Amino acid sequence: MFETVPSGVYGLDEMISGGLPSKRIILILGGPGAGKTILASQFLYKGLSEFNENGIMVSLDEGKNHYFSEMNNFGWDFQKAEEENKFRFIDATRLSRVAILKEKMMKEETHSLRGKLLSIDKLVEQLQEKIQEIEAKRVVLDTLASLFYRFTDPIERRTASQDLIEALSDLGTTTLVTTELSELGLQTRKLTYEEFMVHGVIMMQTIFSGGSTVRGLQIVKMRGVSTNSNVVPYTIDRNGIEVYPTMSLFREG
Ligand SMILES: Nc1ncnc2c1ncn2[C@@H]1O[C@H](COP(=O)(O)OP(=O)(O)OP(=O)(O)O)[C@@H](O)[C@H]1O
Ligand SMILES: [Mg+2]
Repeated sequence: MFETVPSGVYGLDEMISGGLPSKRIILILGGPGAGKTILASQFLYKGLSEFNENGIMVSLDEGKNHYFSEMNNFGWDFQKAEEENKFRFIDATRLSRVAILKEKMMKEETHSLRGKLLSIDKLVEQLQEKIQEIEAKRVVLDTLASLFYRFTDPIERRTASQDLIEALSDLGTTTLVTTELSELGLQTRKLTYEEFMVHGVIMMQTIFSGGSTVRGLQIVKMRGVSTNSNVVPYTIDRNGIEVYPTMSLFREG
């Protein structure tokens, strides 16, 4: 058995026997606008404000100022948390550009992965430093999709992805990694290899049904835990994300 930590998302812990598995990696899978960044940020903010667990956001998507102002909409003051040494933001938006540059340079000489992996190594080093600095217990990487769009070769992509996830699993933090849903639709969806490597997978979907839009969340996998695997509704409002584990997404009859 392993310990669990509260996710900070009302309704979610009930679905996974009490909370997220401590010190493991959970993948948050969802389409654009599904609420992946909000859910992951809520996990960080509630962690540092209510559960005494400091956190780090590694963003491959947006810079710090933009992120801070977006999160203020939910009343989450990450700037203050940073000043109080409860939070660190790692701007990894340049990382992908560096990776592309290196990729271009390497192509001329040799077909090698080293250029790209170096920049991933640097990121992990930086992350380890910050974790020690504030004794962080929670980490978010948002989003894996940003980085791996750059790796067009599937074998290179797989190698880089595996390296990153392996490095993250050695950090000793509870880590959420967001990524994009490759295909919409529950039945036709292809499983990605990232899903096999991580401890748990939570899927967030926007479903268009009968002219209206509904949001549905599903625990696709959570090792060693009995879960509610139904697709249940969730909402996003100015307080963040709320999950309704006892409700059914589709009205019966
Ligand atoms: N105050 C709010 N009330 C209701 N919905 C909101 C509010 N703020 C944001 N949203 C919704 O949240 C969604 C964006 O959430 P978020 O940025 O977490 O998505 P994401 O999955 O990270 O998307 P992307 O793939 O583009 O990064 C949008 O669909 C938006 O409509
Ligand atoms: Mg996002």
